[in-house]
Amino acid sequence: MTDMAGTTPAVDMREINKSFGAIQALHNVNFRLMPGEILGLVGDNSAGKSTLVKILSGAYQRDSGQIFVAGKEVHFKSPQESRDMGIEMIYQDFALCGNLDVAANMFLGRWPRKGIFIDRRRMEADAEAVLDRLKVKVNSVRQRVESLSGGRQQSVAIARAISFDPKVIILDEPTANLSVMATQQLLDTMLELKSQGVAQVIISHRLQDIFEVGDRVMVLKRGAAVGERLVKDSSQDEVLRIIVQGDGAEEALSA
Ligand SMILES: Nc1ncnc2c1ncn2[C@@H]1O[C@H](COP(=O)(O)OP(=O)(O)OP(=O)(O)O)[C@@H](O)[C@H]1O
Ligand SMILES: [Mg+2]
Repeated sequence: MTDMAGTTPAVDMREINKSFGAIQALHNVNFRLMPGEILGLVGDNSAGKSTLVKILSGAYQRDSGQIFVAGKEVHFKSPQESRDMGIEMIYQDFALCGNLDVAANMFLGRWPRKGIFIDRRRMEADAEAVLDRLKVKVNSVRQRVESLSGGRQQSVAIARAISFDPKVIILDEPTANLSVMATQQLLDTMLELKSQGVAQVIISHRLQDIFEVGDRVMVLKRGAAVGERLVKDSSQDEVLRIIVQGDGAEEALSA
C-alpha cells in the first residue's frame, strides 16, 4: 500500500452502497486515495466505476457508507459541495462551450469583472498562468474552443478544473476519444499534476495508460471491489485476469 503510517488519505470511502431500483450498482465498496497518488479504477462495463466517482463528485448520493476527505467526514448533496472540498471531476464530453474562447471557458460562470465589464486582460493572464502550471501550450487563449483538437479541448477542460486548485482530480475515460499523441500529452499532464501533489483517479479501459502513469490499480466487478495491485508489482495481464475472473476468494469459488 502507498498508505504510509501517519498519512491521511486524500479520500477514504467506506462500505459504500448504491442501488438504482433493482440494480445494486455498488456493494460495500471501500475506496482509498492518497495525496499525490494516481489510482487506476478499472472493470468491465457496468462494474460501477462511474457510479463510485459520481458519488465522490457529489453528482449521485450514496445509499449508505461513509466518505472522508482529508480526514473530514463529508455528506455531499451537490457537485458544488464536492468542489468546495477540493474535488474536481472531468467528464468525457468535456462540457465546454465551443463558441467561446479558451480563457472564457476556463473561467465560465466566474468571469472576473472590472465595473460592469468583463476584465479580459485579467482573465487571459489567469488562463495563461494555469496553462503554464500544466505545461500545456495553446496558440492563444483567445482561440475558440471548437477550433481546437480533441486533445487540446481535453487540456482546456483539465485547465478549468485546475483553476479551482483541487486536491483531487477524477478523470472518467479521459483517453477514449483521444489520438495517440493527445493521450500521451494527457498522461504527461497527469504526471505533472502528481509532482505538484494532486491526487488523481483515472477510469480507463486502456490498461496501458494506467500502467504508464498509475501507482495503484483497483478493480470493480459487478459493483464490488474484487482486487487491488500496486502497478510496480503487477502486470496488465494479471489485472486483466482480475477484471475477468475476480481475485482471491471469488477465484477459489469458481475453481
Ligand atoms: N442514473 C442511473 N440510473 C439507473 N441506473 C444506473 C444509473 N447510473 C448507473 N446505473 C447502473 O449502475 C450500474 C453501474 O453503472 P456505471 O455507469 O457505474 O458502470 P461503469 O463501470 O462506469 O461502466 P462503463 O465502463 O460502461 O462506463 C449499471 O448497471 C448501470 O446501468
Ligand atoms: Mg462509466
